[in-house]
Parts: sequence; structure tokens; C-alpha cells
Amino acid sequence: MSDAHPNGPTDAGDAGADAQHATTKVILISIVAAIGGFLFGFDTSVINGAVKAITDQFGLGSALSGFAVSCALLGAAVGAWFAGRIADRFGRKSVMVLGGVLFAVSAVGSAFAFAVWDLILWRVVGGVGVGVASVIAPTYIAEVAPAYIRGRLGSLQQLAITVGIFAALLSDAFIANTAGGAAEITWLGWEAWRWMFVVGVVPSLVWAFLALQVPESPRYLIAQGETQKASDVLRQILGAVSPASIQRKVTEIRTSMKRETEPSLRDLRGPRFGLLPIVWVGILLSVFQQAVGINVIFYYSTTLWQAVGFDESQSLTTSVITSVTNVVVTFVAIATVDRIGRKPLLTIGSMGMVVSLAFMAISFSQSVGSGTDVSLPQPWGTIGIIAANLYVISFGATWGPVVWVLLGEMFPGKIRAAGLAVAAAAQWLANFAISTSFPALADLGLQFAYGLYCIIAVLSLIFVRKAVQETKGRELEDMGEPAGAKA
Ligand code: BGC
Repeated sequence: MSDAHPNGPTDAGDAGADAQHATTKVILISIVAAIGGFLFGFDTSVINGAVKAITDQFGLGSALSGFAVSCALLGAAVGAWFAGRIADRFGRKSVMVLGGVLFAVSAVGSAFAFAVWDLILWRVVGGVGVGVASVIAPTYIAEVAPAYIRGRLGSLQQLAITVGIFAALLSDAFIANTAGGAAEITWLGWEAWRWMFVVGVVPSLVWAFLALQVPESPRYLIAQGETQKASDVLRQILGAVSPASIQRKVTEIRTSMKRETEPSLRDLRGPRFGLLPIVWVGILLSVFQQAVGINVIFYYSTTLWQAVGFDESQSLTTSVITSVTNVVVTFVAIATVDRIGRKPLLTIGSMGMVVSLAFMAISFSQSVGSGTDVSLPQPWGTIGIIAANLYVISFGATWGPVVWVLLGEMFPGKIRAAGLAVAAAAQWLANFAISTSFPALADLGLQFAYGLYCIIAVLSLIFVRKAVQETKGRELEDMGEPAGAKA
């Protein structure tokens, strides 16, 4: 696939410079939207460094302490569910501002929590922000990006999520080390864990502020009948194209967004099990992305490695290495998603996950000892770590970014925000189910947990081959038509 500007310059002279300027602009505004991804990663992981101190300070049992972690995921399902509707009603920008404000409120509220119920409340508020961000960033990016770089720009969301996870880990470690422990009293007489939350205020407000500066999505403007404003935005983001091309684009978008009634979740209804087939594909992409167990690595890695005999510092180091690997491999997706396409990447990723998960399950089945005195004899300890990192590589270069890219672009215009909202809500519920069931599965034996995730990875491969359609290089206005229907 060539990298040339798809709409072609009209006037040779300044056309190259105009196209370049437009591309830079699209990249910058996509980066602003992707800050939502940073907050999504940061907010879901920041609790990791704080949970032990909170459990001790509020005297929590394991169920309540687990719920203090996972309640944010339920909030995220609610946020994702409503974000689509709010985005269709009040615009994409307003939703980004709302997300930023929710994050900031949750950061301050959690930092000042005086009891567990009040901490849970603020975590749910932050979770709603996470859900909102998970829907609005891919929607906005897909709607401003030209087809030829849409996959790369969409992958910025995952890059931001992974950097957010890493930043939270690093910031937690820095604060805990400076204070001498997450429970220790430090600056202003607060416990260190309170600072872990409150630092999130800065990126939250930065996001809300920058979201006010970016242009509104041209697709939303056209759906609102604001054709002139939409043409102005299209001119900025498409660069050197003729007025006639802009007009053609506006007409195409108008046709694809045309509707007789207000957008609603009813639009997703269809003949098969109550929903349109494309909506089922979105939901299943989301569910598979979670059901292969990726967040067990990110939420429980320290416990996981300790459970097979690593000491605390080895486990922490392993977790940090994994989170850096997760950031780095996102660049593989950025480099390849618009060239080799979404479907081949998902296929390769599923295959890699099947193999690495199988090796993890086999390694864990070799552990010896019982209770707190367990260990993985060599070479299984090393094989386990290598397999876990290969698993993160297989996920992080493929299913992690590609699912968000696809969810942003695969739905036809009329149902884009609603379809993404439902699929993202399903993703958060699946995340909740997998993360809350893991401790019980791990009690049965880690090999069973990883054996199950391996079987799910096999199913994900079959699903991709049978149900997912390639979207590489296709215009957003052609989604929902059979591939190649419009050359
Ligand atoms: C998923 C998150 C996950 C992250 C890991 C994202 O695509 O949606 O649930 O924590 O990838 O990098």
C-alpha cells in the first residue's frame, strides 16, 4: 500500500507542503485524543502499588480488597455504554472533556478517601472516565484520520494505554521508594498511597484542556447538519484537495450518516440473537481480547511470580520488564497495521498466544512444593518467564492495538459510536469476569488458568479466520458494505 495522499494534490506547487501540514495536524490531534488512552492505562494500573497499603489501613478482607481493585472495571463498563450516546448528542470533544474531568475528580477523591466505601465510590467514578476514554479516543481518531494512516493513528491509543500502565508502575514505585513504603507518611503528612492517586490529576486536566483545542469530528458535524464547519475541518485535515473533493467527501459522509431518527442503541438490533452481525463481531473481538487473560499479567503479575517461588524483588523486576516489552511491541503494530492489515496481525497474534500460553501452562504444571513454599525447578522457571514475555509480545503487537483500531473503524457511520460503546462495555465486563475469577482458578492450579486461556486463544484464531473482515485502506464511508464493493 502506497503512502501517497489518497485524495491527490490539485496543484503541484504547494500541494506537497499542504499535504504534509495536514498530516502533521492529523497526527497532533490524534495524539491529543490518545491521551485518553494514557489515562485509561494509568488509572487501571495505579491501584497496584497502593492496594496492599489500603488493605492494611482500612483492615480489608480479600474480597473487599479485590473489589476495591475491580470496581473500576464495572465503572468502565458503565462509562463505555453511555459514552457513545453522549458523543452522538453533544459531540466528540465534549466527551473528551467529560472524561478528563471524571479522571481528575476520581484522582482527588481517591487520594482523600477516609473509608473503603468512599474509595470504592471514587474508583468507580475514575472507572467511568476510563470507559468514556476507551470509546471516545478510537471514535475520534478513526473519524479524523485519512484511510491510508488510520491504522497507525488508531494504534496510538494502544501505545498511550501501554505507556500509561508503565507510567503508573513507575510513579507508584518512585513514590513508595521515596517514602520508604506505600503505607508510610510522606509529603504534607499524607500516606504515600494517597500521592499515587493524586498525581493523576495532572494528565487528566491536560487532556481536558487540550481536548478543548482540537477541531470537532467532521463526521459528527455533518450528522448535526453543520456542513460548513465540517468542510473547514476536512480542509484542515485532508490538506491539498480541491473544493470539489471536499464537497464529494461531505456528500459521502452525509449519506453514510443519514438517518430518520435520533441515534440510539435500538439501531444495533438485528436478526441474529437480537443484534446486527457486525455488532456481534465487535463484541466477540472485545471478549476474546480479554478472555486470553492479558490483564492477569498486568494486574496480578507480582503475585503470579511469587506464587511460583520468585522473591518480591524478582517479581517486581519481571513485571517492569513485561510492561516495557508491552510498550515497545506496540511499534510493531504501528509499523505494520496499514501495510499487512488487521486480519493477518490478529491471526499471527492468536498463533503466538496459543504457543506461549501452552508453554506457560506446561511450566506452571512443573512447580514443586505447596502453600507458600512453592518453586519452579529449572529450566521451567526460565521457560515460564520467556513464554510470558512472548505472550505479551504476541498480544501487544497484535490483539492489543488492532482490536481498538477495528472497533473505531469497522462500524458503519450511523452506528459507529453506539456499536463501539456496546463492544467496549462488553470488553470491560469480560475484563471484570477474567480478573475476578483468576484468584479462584489460580487456587486450583496456575496450569489450569493458563490452559483455559490457551484454549480461548485457539478459539480466537478460528473466530478471526471466519468472522473478521479486513478494513485496511478502506474509507470509513464504505464500512458496512462488502469489501471491494466500492473500488
Ligand atoms: C486492553 C487492556 C490491556 C492493555 C494491555 C488493551 O488493549 O484493552 O485491557 O490492559 O491492552 O496493554
